[in-house]
Amino acid sequence: MSNNPTEKGVPNWLLFLFFGSLAVGAMYSVFKHGFLAEQPRLQAYIIPTLVEVPQRSDAVISEGEKLYGQACVACHGANLQGLVGPNLVDAEWWHGDNEQKIYKGIVNGFSAAQSQSGQIMPAKGGANISDGDVWKILFYISSKNGSIKQDAPIPEI
Ligand code: HEC
Repeated sequence: MSNNPTEKGVPNWLLFLFFGSLAVGAMYSVFKHGFLAEQPRLQAYIIPTLVEVPQRSDAVISEGEKLYGQACVACHGANLQGLVGPNLVDAEWWHGDNEQKIYKGIVNGFSAAQSQSGQIMPAKGGANISDGDVWKILFYISSKNGSIKQDAPIPEI
């Protein structure tokens, strides 16, 4: 009788999983929107490690090149030489010369107040791409520009 699984209701492990994932979700939400929102300096280091950072590889770099061709080429040029937006293969960086800073710049864009040239850049160039895609594009740019300090967070494998 008690061996009949239909009489046992929901098994405990399932309840544990269900409420466990709710709790983890709630904690993450508080962490990201409550705790981290108050700490921009921590955000700069923790958020990039929470987003999916791809492993730097030739395959990822060539995906980045394709994405660059869709999202960035119109303003930065086919050879990253610059058009409306600045040259990305020289050693002059207005907004930082390391990947962590450049990543933030691409994700947020540059408002009129932040702009050095007087031209604005929309967030992610106005393209509908993921944060992971931005890393891929950045790895492509880094592969073409030795002046960028390669300090991207190392993804866990
Ligand atoms: C609509 C035009 C436009 C698009 C699309 C665009 N950008 Fe920009 N980008 C700009 C402009 C303009 C600036 C310069 C902002 C300034 O004057 O400070 C800029 C600045 C930058 C910088 C900072 C350069 C520095 O010297 O610090 C990087 C890096 C960058 N863009 C990368 C990208 C990437 C990657 C993409 C594609 C996802 C992209 N941009 C798409 C217009 C654009």
